Order: sequence, then C-alpha cells, then structure tokens
Amino acid sequence: MALVDACIHHNLQSDIMMIPAIGHYIVNSGGKRFRPLLCLLTARLFAYHGERHIPLSVVVEFIHTASLLHDDVVDSSDQRRGSPSANGVWGNQASVLVGDYLFSRAFQMMVADGDMAMLKLMSDVTNALAEGEVLQLSRTFHLEMTEAECLEVIERKTAVLFKAASEVGAHAAEQSPEVVAQMAEYGMCLGVAFQLMDDALDYLAEAEEAGKPVGHDLEEGKITLPLIHAMQGDAELAARVEEISERGCYEDGDREWVRGRVSAQDGAGFAMNRAKDYAERAKHLLPDSAGIDIDVRNLLAELAEFSAHRPY
Ligand code: FPP
Ligand code: MG
Repeated sequence: MALVDACIHHNLQSDIMMIPAIGHYIVNSGGKRFRPLLCLLTARLFAYHGERHIPLSVVVEFIHTASLLHDDVVDSSDQRRGSPSANGVWGNQASVLVGDYLFSRAFQMMVADGDMAMLKLMSDVTNALAEGEVLQLSRTFHLEMTEAECLEVIERKTAVLFKAASEVGAHAAEQSPEVVAQMAEYGMCLGVAFQLMDDALDYLAEAEEAGKPVGHDLEEGKITLPLIHAMQGDAELAARVEEISERGCYEDGDREWVRGRVSAQDGAGFAMNRAKDYAERAKHLLPDSAGIDIDVRNLLAELAEFSAHRPY
C-alpha cells in the first residue's frame, strides 16, 4: 500500500498547479483505499510477486476518485469524508475538470501497462459506471422502484469498480479465465454489500460518523432499499414521499420525519441484512484450491465482512 501511495502521488504531478492541489486534497482526505487494497490482496492470493498490480490498482483508485469529484458536483454535495468536498473548496468547474484529468491519466497508465485485455476490462467497467449514474438519474424520484431495479443501479454505479479491482488482481496474477471470473464475482458481491451499507447509513448514521451529509438520498431523488422496504409497510410514509417528490425538496422537518418512519419499519436493518447476504456470497466465492495463500484468503473474507458491517 506504501507503493500504491507513492504511485498515486507520482501520477498527480503536473505543472498545472491546480491539478496536484485538488488531486492531493482528495486523495489525502482519508479515503479507505479499499479498491487498491482489494486489487493487491487478490494478486497476493495467487502468490503474485510482480509489480504490475501497483499501477493497475492506482488506475482503479483514480477512476474512483474521478467519479467522486464528478458525483459531488452532480449531487451538489459540499462534504466528503468529514471535510469540505473539492467542489466546496474550488467550485464545480475545477472539480469536473480535475476529475477528467484523473480519468484520462488512468487511461494513460493502462496504455503504459500495455495489455489490451486490461484496457478492455477497464473501459467496459468505466462505461458501466457512467451508465449506472445515468440510469440512477433517469430513476430520480421513481417511486415504484423495485428491489431488483435498485440492485441494478448499485451493481452498475458502485459494484463494478470493486469487481474491477479483484478482477485486475487475478488477471495480473495470470489466473485462468474461470478463476478471474470467480474473483470478479467476489468483487461484485462485495461492492453490492458496500453500497447497500452506504444506503443504510444514509438513514441510520449521523453526519459526523458518515463524514458527509446524511438523510439526503431521498431529497436527491434516490429511492434506495431502506426507503423501498419502509414504504411497503407504511402508506403514510409513501404518501409523504410522493409529496416530497412533487415538491423536489424537503420542507422543515421532512428529513427527520422520514428518517423516523424508515427507522420504525427497520428499513436500514433490512438493507443491512441484504448487505450481509451479499458479503456471505462473496466469501463463498473465494477459492480454496492448492497454492492459495490462506492468510490472504482470510483477509479477503474479512474485507467482505467489513463491507457489510462498516460503521462509516
Ligand atoms: C457515489 O454514490 C457515486 C458513485 C458510486 C459513482 C459516481 C460515478 C460518476 C459520477 C460517473 C463518473 C464517470 C467517469 C467516467 C469518471 P452516492 O452519491 O450514492 O454516494 P455518496 O453518498 O458517497 O455521494
Ligand atoms: Mg453522492
């Protein structure tokens, strides 16, 4: 992970000062480096001892960071990881453009790696990520959202990058297509668990714990699993959500009222149980064959566990 950090900082260098300034601000803002860790551990699981996985894990982290820079603009969010978001400090234009820089840097790094299969994998994943965000946008205040539709958005907007991280690690370690696909599925399940927890925390956590505004998914028009579940058992809540959707914003007390009603139906608990199911599925996908590093396998199982139990 120290090598990953060094690679991140090396690749943020530019003589356009705003790029390293915003780049360092966001990569030093306390992110978990979850995706690079996943990539490194997956490569290690198969006893990989090369160097390729370091820049490739940074590729995944840069695409993730670019997507957060863009996401906070799209969501008009002024907090991220307990600090003002980059758009809160430098404004929307700078955030979008530095996001574009990181995104294109990631593709330069893949070209330097020189593996067409990797380029295909990452360009497909990035395309799915962008599609996922557009899909989510097109389902803004889609009050009839089903659990399946909700999971489709989650897979595309979040889980694909976790999938990419473990897939890249297995591919770098030159595993068979079957094993690469199995590790991709592990990452996908872990990623779904991770986003389901994010959606639960929006209804459960306080802003200080989450490091970002909470209780705003609904105001942004995001109909997530805790709310879907709660509305099924509470017609009054469903009616109030419809009013909020027609108005397009909260009025005094809406946020706390909705959170109270979702809590009464244990909406967050329902989403967390689903997250635990996905984490279990992820754990079962970890290979057991000879040549596997058991300590690393245990760590990957713990990571799946963490994604469904994390407090932040
Ligand atoms: C966070 O979700 C956002 C994402 C998981 C993906 C954002 C992706 C884009 C904006 C597409 C970017 C595309 C390219 C090519 C760089 P959230 O808003 O539910 O979570 P949050 O509460 O952490 O903001
Ligand atoms: Mg957001």
